[in-house]
Amino acid sequence: MIKHFLSLSSFSKSDILSLIDRAQFFSVHQNQPDKINHLLKNKIFANVFYEPSTRTRCSFEIAAKRLGAEVVNFVPENSSVKKGETVYDTLKTLESLGVDGIVFRHSDDRVFDDLHQKFNLPLINAGAGKFEHPSQGLLDLLTLQQEFGKLEGLKIAICGDVKHSRVAGSLMVAAQMFNMEVYLCGPDALLPHPESSNIKKASLDDILPKVDALMLLRIQLERHESLELNAETYHKQFGLNSERLSQMKKEAIILHPGPFNRGVEISDELVEHSQSRIFKQMSNGVFARMALLEWATK
Ligand code: CP
Repeated sequence: MIKHFLSLSSFSKSDILSLIDRAQFFSVHQNQPDKINHLLKNKIFANVFYEPSTRTRCSFEIAAKRLGAEVVNFVPENSSVKKGETVYDTLKTLESLGVDGIVFRHSDDRVFDDLHQKFNLPLINAGAGKFEHPSQGLLDLLTLQQEFGKLEGLKIAICGDVKHSRVAGSLMVAAQMFNMEVYLCGPDALLPHPESSNIKKASLDDILPKVDALMLLRIQLERHESLELNAETYHKQFGLNSERLSQMKKEAIILHPGPFNRGVEISDELVEHSQSRIFKQMSNGVFARMALLEWATK
């Protein structure tokens, strides 16, 4: 069976926990390359990103290399996409060239709808429009599990442009699975209508003292046709500053998928605060993606 990784909703709780366990194994053994650098020897993955990326693309590449695999980085701007080649034909070309898996990002929410049925190799969603970013979801869960030793029942606030965020899309699927309480905060126009009883809209200032984690999101300007953002006003109303942080529990953590805008959704000095796990999330992205690549091709 071909193992695609398109949405967290296709996985059971035990599947996700197994991936987290395996990611944790890779985290623990990160300084013992002999234990892991042969696991995907002779495999070749293609990174195919039709939207910009720093963290996801680089961490998938590093994950593959840490496991002994090789990576082809396909750059649409320098490719036959410029001559009119379609997404399907591009991916099919890479399949016929013999890659073992394709890590794929695109701006279309529905790009994976029928695509995976036409391929005989794993397709891995590295971010699909506003739909889901499931490998980010996995690394967020890994970070929460490391911090709290559990996922069940955690209280998480997500603040920002939730409506246009695929990161929030995957986190909300996971929240449902692990019975978390999720509070959506930010400008009302940027919040979706909650679709389940464990997801509610809330005022950021009211909910901050109660949550275990605050996930900050940037405003996805590239997904808005006409949104005027005054960074200073937004920061005052919805940004995390020292005063708001002082309202949070001392053991609560700050998350952000990146890229973050210092002085907009988070004050500059809080990005590397002792309660911030933002760079930890990035490190965990490599371990989560190692677990994913191994799962998809084993
Ligand atoms: N978190 C995330 O998806 O970052 P990149 O866009 O840099 O990959």
